[in-house]
Order: sequence, then structure tokens, then C-alpha cells
Amino acid sequence: MMVEERLSLRVHSCRFMSQLLVTGGAGFVGSHTCLALLQANHRLVVLDNYVNSSADSLERVCDLVGLKDRDALKVVQGDVRSPDDLNRVFQLSDKPIEAVLHFAGLKAVGESISSPLHYWDINVTGTRCLLQAMQSYGCKTIVFSSSATLYGSPKTLPITENSLVDPTNTYGNTKAAVERLLRDLVASEDSWRVACLRYFNPVGAHPSGTIGESPQGIPNNLFPVITKVALGQIDKLKIFGGDWPTEDGTAVRDYIHVMDLAEGHCFALELLQREDPQLLVMNLGTGTGYSVLEVVKAFEKACGVNVPYEIINRRPGDVACTIADPTLAQKKLGWRTKFSLDAMCLHSWSWQKDNPNGYIN
Ligand code: NAD
Ligand code: UFG
Repeated sequence: MMVEERLSLRVHSCRFMSQLLVTGGAGFVGSHTCLALLQANHRLVVLDNYVNSSADSLERVCDLVGLKDRDALKVVQGDVRSPDDLNRVFQLSDKPIEAVLHFAGLKAVGESISSPLHYWDINVTGTRCLLQAMQSYGCKTIVFSSSATLYGSPKTLPITENSLVDPTNTYGNTKAAVERLLRDLVASEDSWRVACLRYFNPVGAHPSGTIGESPQGIPNNLFPVITKVALGQIDKLKIFGGDWPTEDGTAVRDYIHVMDLAEGHCFALELLQREDPQLLVMNLGTGTGYSVLEVVKAFEKACGVNVPYEIINRRPGDVACTIADPTLAQKKLGWRTKFSLDAMCLHSWSWQKDNPNGYIN
């Protein structure tokens, strides 16, 4: 299949063509969303300090889209906490920035617990600085990357947007704090258009295997660990706990393909731009949970490789089961996830096989 055909399979055509700011656009979710936004004819300015990414991801996005007009994607290396960097991006394009997709932030749960000041600085102060700049440039539309981690250990499943927000770690506290800040902003001025998208577990890669997740150092998340085990870079997968109250004793998560997630951002942006100003808070997940062992088996079958594993003690801070109720996003956005667990496995594997060291070749 031609690259163009593969791309057109998944890319939603947004009705509006806008000049957008994408913070953290070089990262995992950001780069896949940049691809979908460019394909939908938006023009982007990306602000990223590359603390957990590389400019290569955006070069590859341009190649995948076949971008001829390089002005459609301007990239600024800078920090969301810096008023100078923010002024630079807001003044860069001839057309005013109409909306922001805010991915920039730190996301490692363990690190967040040992470095709370740093996490609150980047995730909360960074967002406050961004909102300040948006307000002064009259840009009042933002799609924010929130997280299912803010539900903590859910009392009932599936998790709806009305479930208790009760984070169990610093990372989750910063996401909950930003959501509250956004709520306060909307309450103070009803011209803001805000979407807080609570992602469940983003995995997979672009079907071409050209862009994907490139964690710095030793990965913590399940999919990057599995692909590295399959490649022989790590001896075996350590499964954290075989005594969870689930069918096979391993923990259950709602894994969502990153291309479905990217499409969810396009739909949310389109809704914000189309409808009256509002605050949208919604889960982005598939509504189906898989245990760690089910993921391992699915990966082995889909990719034809072995994933040796051992079951060890539970990881501190983990919970037994998180599964989204995605009904609200389905109804409001008309959005449905399309990629199966097999596709998530296959695409992660293509990316890892072709890029054994991520973007560092
Ligand atoms: P990522 O680390 O791949 O991307 C984040 C990007 O932000 C990186 O490119 C990084 O260099 C950049 N960045 C970090 N601090 C910055 C700063 N101060 N100024 C400018 N750029 C900065 O992570 P991701 O998986 O793409 O996640 C994107 C967003 O989604 C994050 O806010 C994350 O918290 C949230 N999220 C991610 C997951 C997940 O499991 N991947 C789940 C829920 C929510
Ligand atoms: N797991 C293992 N071994 C590993 C890695 C993970 O058994 O080496 C297990 C975990 O214990 C968990 C499941 O695989 O049961 C998924 O773990 P991840 O680390 O991939 O994901 P989490 O559910 O812990 O958290 C992820 C992101 C968070 C985000 C959350 C909800 O890391 O940033 O999803 O969106 F907030």
C-alpha cells in the first residue's frame, strides 16, 4: 500500500483550516497528532524543548504527509514556561494562532513522585504561562492532554467523566490541577473554548512504522518494554503482579492506538471551533480492557515473536484495572476507535524493528 493511501485511511478532514500552536508536538502523541492536523490542512507552529523527543519526529511527519509548503509546519525549540519563547511562537506566523493543542509536559509517574517541584513547575506553571500568553494574544481555544491517571483507583468500572477524580501520584495531581485551572478560567470568562482529553493508555505507532514512541533511557511503559524484549534489547518482561483481582491475575488497562487518539484531537478541536464556547471534559479510550498477559499473547501471535516474561511483585502505585467509558466522546464528537489490539501490537513492532534505537540511529 502507498504511504498516501495508508495515511488517508485514518486521517479525518477537519472542516476548518486554522493556524495552530502545538506544544510538545515532537513527542509521541504530539507527533502523530501533528500528522493528522497537517493532513487536515491546518498550519502548525510547534513549540518543543526536546527534553523527551527529537526534531527527527517532525521531519518524518513532513515526509509522511509529503509536505511541500514547509511554512505549514514551523518548529521552535523553546520552553512553555518562557514568556520570550511564547511571544516568539505567537508572533511567528502571519495569521494569528487560533487554537493551541497542549501536549508539552512530563509524564513519568515514578519520577513525578521523586521530583514533585519539577513536575508542578513544568506541568502546572508551564500551562499557566501558556494560558497567560494565549490570553494576551486573544487566543482562547485549547485542547489539553489530560490523563486517566487522575481517576486513581476507580471504585466502579467502566470509568465515566463523573467518576471521582482522586489521583494517587504527583503526575496525576498536576493533571487534576491543570483541569481545575482551566475550569476557573472558563468560569472567569465565558469566551474560552477548552477540551480536557483524558487519555487512557496510548500505544502503537503510525502504520508505516516511521514515527512512534521513543522513550529516553530504560522504558517504563508496557508496550515499549515488550517491543524491546521481542528485539532482544531486554531479556524478559517483568510483569508487575500476578495476584490482582482480575481473571488471570495480571492488571487490566484500556489501550488506545495513538492514531485513534490523534483523530480524537482533530474531532475535539473541530467541535470547539464549531460550537459555542464551552468546557469539554472527556475520556479517550476504547472501552475494552486487556490484561498484561492478554497483551503479551496478542503481541506474540500478531507479530510472530516470543516475549519471555516472569511475574514479579506489584509495582508501587499501580491499580488493578482501568477501563474507559468512551460514550461521551462517541456521542459529542462522533468519534470511534478503529484500531484493534492486534494493530496496536503490529504497528508498535514495525516501529521498533525499523528503529531499534528510536530516533537515535
Ligand atoms: P512525550 O514525552 O513523548 O511528549 C511530550 C513533549 O513535550 C516532548 O516532546 C517533550 O520534549 C515536550 N516538553 C516537555 N516539557 C516541555 C517544556 N517545558 N517546554 C516545551 N516542551 C516540553 O509524551 P506523550 O506521551 O506524547 O504525552 C503528551 C501529553 O499527553 C503529556 O502532557 C502527557 O502527560 C499526556 N499523556 C500521556 C499519556 C501516555 O501514556 N503517553 C497518557 C495520558 C496523558
Ligand atoms: N507493566 C508490567 N511490566 C512493565 C511495564 C508495565 O507489568 O515492564 C504493567 C503495569 O503494571 C500496568 C500495565 O502494564 O499494569 C500498563 O503499564 P504502563 O506503565 O504501560 O501504563 P500505566 O497504566 O501504568 O500508565 C500509563 C501512563 C500514564 C498514564 C496512564 C493512563 O504511563 O502516564 O497510562 O493514561 F497516566
